[in-house]
Amino acid sequence: MNPDASTIAAGAPIEVDLSPVAEGQDIKVFWRGKPIYISHRTKKQIEEARAVNVASLPDPQTDEARVKSGHDQWLVVIGICTHLGCIPIAHEGSYDGFFCPCHGSVYDTSGRIRQGPAPSNLPVPPYQFVSDTKIQIG
Ligand code: FES
Repeated sequence: MNPDASTIAAGAPIEVDLSPVAEGQDIKVFWRGKPIYISHRTKKQIEEARAVNVASLPDPQTDEARVKSGHDQWLVVIGICTHLGCIPIAHEGSYDGFFCPCHGSVYDTSGRIRQGPAPSNLPVPPYQFVSDTKIQIG
């Protein structure tokens, strides 16, 4: 039996089937009323995220620390700009990650802040893979 909508809104974990999400595609789901972006990253996007000099980043974090080992193609982040809370647009901006049109913050393909006023990376919510194609958030 699945939890009803009010239980989910109150914070129950949600399961997301990733199998329909094509490489290069992003989807948005909601968990605890927050938008969660799930990106099926291309090889190029992963390579770009890992080619960065981490020490040069405003909020230094490796790409490996932001994804699950063995599922490196999947990026899962809370889609709320760390500046003032707008919802960034996926697959936009000069780093092919996320762009927040409110004040111009630009995040990369790992959801890390690269330009603009946002002080920190898009947070990674608690989640786990329950199978190769399904995650549980929360
Ligand atoms: S809220 Fe995103 S840049 Fe200001």
